[in-house]
Formats: sequence, C-alpha cells, structure tokens
Amino acid sequence: MSRIPVLEDLGDVAGKRVLVRTDFNVPMEGPDEARRITDDFRIRAALPTINWLTERGASVVCATHLGRPKGAPEQKHSLAPVRARLAELAPGVELLENLRFNAGEEKNDPDFVASLVKGVDMYVNDAFGASHRTHASIVGPPRALPSAAGRLLEREVEVLGGLRENPKRPFVAILGGAKVSDKMGVIESLLQVVDALVIGGGMCFTFLAARGHPVGDSICELDQIATCRRLLDSGRSIHLPEDIVGLDTGGRFATFGVRLPDGAKGLDIGPGSAAAFSDVIMDARTVFWNGPMGMFEDERFAAGTRTVAEAVATTRAFTVVGGGDSAAALAQFGLDDDVDHVSTGGGASLELLELGDLPGLAALRGAPNAR
Ligand code: 3PG
Repeated sequence: MSRIPVLEDLGDVAGKRVLVRTDFNVPMEGPDEARRITDDFRIRAALPTINWLTERGASVVCATHLGRPKGAPEQKHSLAPVRARLAELAPGVELLENLRFNAGEEKNDPDFVASLVKGVDMYVNDAFGASHRTHASIVGPPRALPSAAGRLLEREVEVLGGLRENPKRPFVAILGGAKVSDKMGVIESLLQVVDALVIGGGMCFTFLAARGHPVGDSICELDQIATCRRLLDSGRSIHLPEDIVGLDTGGRFATFGVRLPDGAKGLDIGPGSAAAFSDVIMDARTVFWNGPMGMFEDERFAAGTRTVAEAVATTRAFTVVGGGDSAAALAQFGLDDDVDHVSTGGGASLELLELGDLPGLAALRGAPNAR
C-alpha cells in the first residue's frame, strides 16, 4: 500500500488557502438554542495541524459535521458553540457551516465537492473520526487538490495500524458496549492478531448464551448466538465474565454468577470478572480497549468499567483506547492522561483495525501530489 501524503508533502503553504476537514463532532448539552460543549477534546486535537499551517503563512478554513442532521439546517446542530471555541483556540481560522446541513455531503455529490474546493489551493484531512465515511468532504477534495493527512490523522494511522502490524506481545483487546452485531467484524479480525480477547458490556450476554447460560432479561442478540459459539469453539483465547451485577426480578441491585434467573437483568460485569480482566490487562504488553463493561453512567453499574479503566491506566503495556464511550469513561474517572493513546474516532478506529484501511486514507493516497 502506498504511503499517505503528510503535511510536508504539500510543499510551500505560504499564502495558500487550505481546507482542513476536521472532526469537531463534539458532545453538547443544553437546550437547542443554547447548546454548550461538554468536551472540546476533538477541537484541541486539531490544533497541531491548524497551527502548523498558520505558522507557515497559510490561511485555514475548517470544515466539519456535527451530529446527524438530515441534509438541512437544524438549530440543535448549529456550529455556533464550536465556532466560538475555535475562535478562542485558533483566532482567525474560518469554519464553514455544518457539512451535513447540505444533503450533498453524505451523498458524496460532485457539485457539493466542487463548492467545497472552489477558491481553495490545498486540502488536509485531519478528521480521523469521520474517515470511515465515504462523504463528499472526506473523499472528494483529494481528487482535485494537493492533499495531506494532518498530524492527528497521521498519528491515529501510525498507532492503530501499528496494533495490526507489530504489537508487543501479549496483545490483549478488551471489547464492551451494548451490541455484539456492531462489533462482529472487528472481533473476527482482532482474533487473528491478539493473544487474548476480553469481552464485557451488554455484548457479553450473547456470548454467555452461546455457552448455554440463561441470561434473563439482559441484552441478547439471538441471531448472533451461532457466530459467538463458533468463535468460542475456535480455540482462540476469549475471556468472558464469571459473575454479573444487575437488577433482580424485583428491580433490586444484585450480584449473580453467569446464569441469570428469568426476569433478572445484567448491567455490569461482577467484581470477580473485573479482577480477572485486570490480571489479563496487567500481564499484557499491548492493550486495546473499546466499549464500557456496563452501564457506567449509573454509579451502581460503573464498578466494572472503572476497574478495567484503572487497569488500563496502570499496566506497563502500550495502551490504546478507542474513542466514544470508553474515552468518555476514562475522562469520567479522571484517567485519560494515563493511557498512551486515546483515539478521536470510535467507529473509525474499529473499522481501521478491522479492515486496515479507510475511505479517507485511500482518497489521500490517490491525491495528485501522492502519485
Ligand atoms: C463520530 O463521532 O464517531 C464521528 O464524528 C462520526 O460521526 P457519524 O457516526 O455521525 O458519521
């Protein structure tokens, strides 16, 4: 696979107008007319690229999506709060309107691409979190302009690509989150490269069901049970919880083994599982973690995720945390500075691990200056 062009491959940027595709899809709270950013991590993460360009005399215009508006403006997804924060962090940098206010973005419409590149000299993709989308702003501009990966994208590809290629061993992946069907592709792919796979979160119940255990009212995807059983029988090292915490039939907090009675609902891994998972993490040399172990937003069901987060933060392994909920959990426990790499991408980091490439990376490899 050819190399992705980086900022240095743009040549002289002085006096050039550079379109930087960022992922400023930041978490927000508050009423539609007064939204507030709750975590500006993704904006700060783009600053090395923005500063590299502006320090060399380029004028930077950023473009991002925010939320999932349906091709038309919606107040809830206005970029006003993002624009204000960007003005504080990088004064003088422009920001286009939410890309998804135009239906052409998700359709990868050539007319929308033409409008994005009009009057622009160069393109930089620093939107790792959106690079798994075949959207206009991700795959379109590199067809027309000298293009490069920004620093954030470059680092994500280096770290996540390195996990697939030459991880220090033992390499342990910990996966959680609600639905196993969302992660089956990456589970199958990771099982080819990891020494051990640890499964928690809502998705563990489909695996427990595949082992023949009753799971009560816990999340369970019946159509995935056969696949889970095949993986469990494959001889690979897969660690499942040995105890579960949740609510009993009367709605009271309870700890169970791995067999849940009818009407009971599992909402976190139990203390025995959390300790066992920690031991596996402490013995690892490379760790990838994506997805909480339980419903950590509720303090009653946060212990499993907290214990795993603490192990990931303390192990001497090289530690990588996929974005989304696991990054939010780390931040909630104040441990985000204690891991080696927190990815800015949730879906993108999983797709890169699964497939080894992303549409946004392939587009950069096809740019005129990459050939
Ligand atoms: C993310 O938050 O994972 C990225 O910004 C991508 O957003 P999307 O899933 O709405 O495409």
